[in-house]
Amino acid sequence: MKNKTSIQGSWASRWIFILAATGSAVGLGNIWKFPYITGENGGGAFVLVYLACILLVGIPIMMAEVFIGRRARKNPINALSDLAEESEGTRKWGIIGVMGMLSGVLIFSFYSVVGGWVLHYIIAMLTGDMANVTSDQAGDAFGALLANPMTLLGWHTLFSIMTIVVVAAGINKGIETATRIMMPALFVLLIVLLGYAMTTGGFAQGWDFMFHFDFGQLTWNAALIALGHSFFTLSLGMGTIMAYGSYMTKNASIGKTVLTIGALDTVVALVAGLAIFPVIFANGMDPAAGPGLMFISLPVAFGQMPFGQLFGTLFFVLVGVAAWTSAISLLEPTVAFLVERFKMKRITASIGLGLVVWALGIACLGSFNFMSDVTFFGKNTFDFLDYITANIMLPLGGILIALFAGWVVKDKFAQDELNLSSTVFKLWNVSMKFTAPVAIAIVLYFLINPLQ
Ligand code: PFF
Repeated sequence: MKNKTSIQGSWASRWIFILAATGSAVGLGNIWKFPYITGENGGGAFVLVYLACILLVGIPIMMAEVFIGRRARKNPINALSDLAEESEGTRKWGIIGVMGMLSGVLIFSFYSVVGGWVLHYIIAMLTGDMANVTSDQAGDAFGALLANPMTLLGWHTLFSIMTIVVVAAGINKGIETATRIMMPALFVLLIVLLGYAMTTGGFAQGWDFMFHFDFGQLTWNAALIALGHSFFTLSLGMGTIMAYGSYMTKNASIGKTVLTIGALDTVVALVAGLAIFPVIFANGMDPAAGPGLMFISLPVAFGQMPFGQLFGTLFFVLVGVAAWTSAISLLEPTVAFLVERFKMKRITASIGLGLVVWALGIACLGSFNFMSDVTFFGKNTFDFLDYITANIMLPLGGILIALFAGWVVKDKFAQDELNLSSTVFKLWNVSMKFTAPVAIAIVLYFLINPLQ
């Protein structure tokens, strides 16, 4: 089983792979979710636990995903089955890939709705609609957006089309080109916004909030949220990184590459926090405002500041770019599967899948208006899909991938790809066999049975 390249193509260089995977990892999870869960969970101590989770669980699982993809050079289902067979296991392990693809489809359907809100806010900031609004007015404006299915549909459709077009264009012409343009833009925007935050007068307070480690503030629940989030933010547990890994060049070191991706993703989350909290503090607002932090508090804060319209617009462009590159990666594993398994043309596979996720997205956006009384286990469709994917399906996928890499794949094959020193390989192996599955299982257990 030594395919030289995937039939989908391969990345032009190791750095393109790093940037494409970082594009997948850096998304709404970093810029929207990370700051607000840090805010809700007391700041510094939460950040420290999150960093530990990335290093001890996230990075080792990402290494597993990359080597599985790169060894097989196929979509996740076939990669897992082929590698299982090569290691004299059952091809049924491919089922992890099936679950992963399903996760991607489900995540996309609500991710695209939020991506649509971001597009809406780019225009609202640009045209000055949000200038000088009070908190109540900003809350009402967000409420009015959610109450209007046609507006939401328009933005969701635009975001879906933007994503499908890139995926349909293929690995090199589509995803790689988008990566080359969007990732540098993302880094520049982030630095500009960090610079702006430094001028707001709230920077010291923002810094202190994020890096003052007060363990008295840390709760068990917060630790669990940190581990769950480390998963979502690194795009793990659903085969995305496996698919991207299958396009990676053979000679690149997986360990170093994955460490770089993990570091970039973490730096972006931290810098996003440092760009957001000073703006919030400078305006005397509450860092623990929850999901509305980005769509309600921030527009108010920007609206009251010098050049707030310009920097507010840039901020939402940044979020839009980050969400776009992640959304692309949500579709890639399934498109690769459809092309390889059913010999579909990439464009047909992308549009077909695109229609499915777009339609599912309508159920998600309807959660805030015409379908608000449709609930699953007491949650509306949007919240339900967010909950079962991020909290259950991805962690479950992660456990299975770790167990697969640790117990099923022959060490020889893993080491063939990973090429680690024997001590580091042992550490990685222990993480796959025990540490990662046990840690995730604990999180899953407590997410399903929350601590009081
Ligand atoms: N990592 C993305 C974020 O932090 O927003 C979300 C995501 C993308 C999760 C792709 C999973 C995935 F496969």
